[in-house]
Amino acid sequence: MNYLDKIEEISKIVGSYIRENFRGNFIIEQKGSDTNLVTEVDKNSEKMIIDYLKKNFPDYGIIAEESGNENSNAEYKWLIDPLDGTTNFAHGLPIFSISIGLVKGEEIIAGGIYDIMRDSIYLAEKGAGSYCNNRKIFVSKETSLRKALLVTGFPYDIASNPEKVLDRFNNVIKKSRGVRRLGSAAIDFCYVAEGAFDGYWEVFLNPWDMCAGILIVREAGGKVTNFQGKEMTPFDKRMVASNGLLHKELLNVINEV
Ligand code: IPD
Ligand code: CA
Ligand code: CA
Repeated sequence: MNYLDKIEEISKIVGSYIRENFRGNFIIEQKGSDTNLVTEVDKNSEKMIIDYLKKNFPDYGIIAEESGNENSNAEYKWLIDPLDGTTNFAHGLPIFSISIGLVKGEEIIAGGIYDIMRDSIYLAEKGAGSYCNNRKIFVSKETSLRKALLVTGFPYDIASNPEKVLDRFNNVIKKSRGVRRLGSAAIDFCYVAEGAFDGYWEVFLNPWDMCAGILIVREAGGKVTNFQGKEMTPFDKRMVASNGLLHKELLNVINEV
């Protein structure tokens, strides 16, 4: 099955649509709070992706951010984030992506992330390596947290969430070279996979934010676990990704809080 060709094809079609609408006039709505946004571009993109995948893989299930689940008893399921980085998109900041992953049960089989404004497509299939625009990519070789550049993200409900997100951030930023916050989880994973970031952590992401990214980091030689150091599934809640070499050190600093 040529999963990656299909992921690439639909990502580029929908990516062009999103690019054409960047900084345009589109409807922006709030999802429950004034920090969590959705635009009509998110919704139209998701519909285009679902229609395409259903046509090509009629028996597969779908878990999509804006429209929920379909065919949830299926063995294979697509996990779809039609626009990862909606806040950036809505504010005219050119950092957002499309993320499409495929699971068999909880095992990730294939994934693709399209970094729309850089026209870069990241693809991985289990056991076959990770690629960006057909070039094989690898995680960094940094072994020391002190010299590492990291990335993180914050949940939309940070103001009310009891999780110690800012305490953890405070601890890690003082013990590393720096921590960035880009606003697209899927792109954060890609930058770990190609060695720009040495590590990434975030809590309370959704399965569609992580599915493709976890596989792309692993297939590039990296490691993705929960805060206990157990191999991450897209359905877990506390995630650490790294080049593998400084994984333990990063986990320790995260867990100190
Ligand atoms: C969000 C982004 C962001 C992360 C949030 C996600 P969305 O996804 O990935 O980087 O920090 O937790 O929800 O809402 O833009 O698809
Ligand atoms: Ca997302
Ligand atoms: Ca989204």
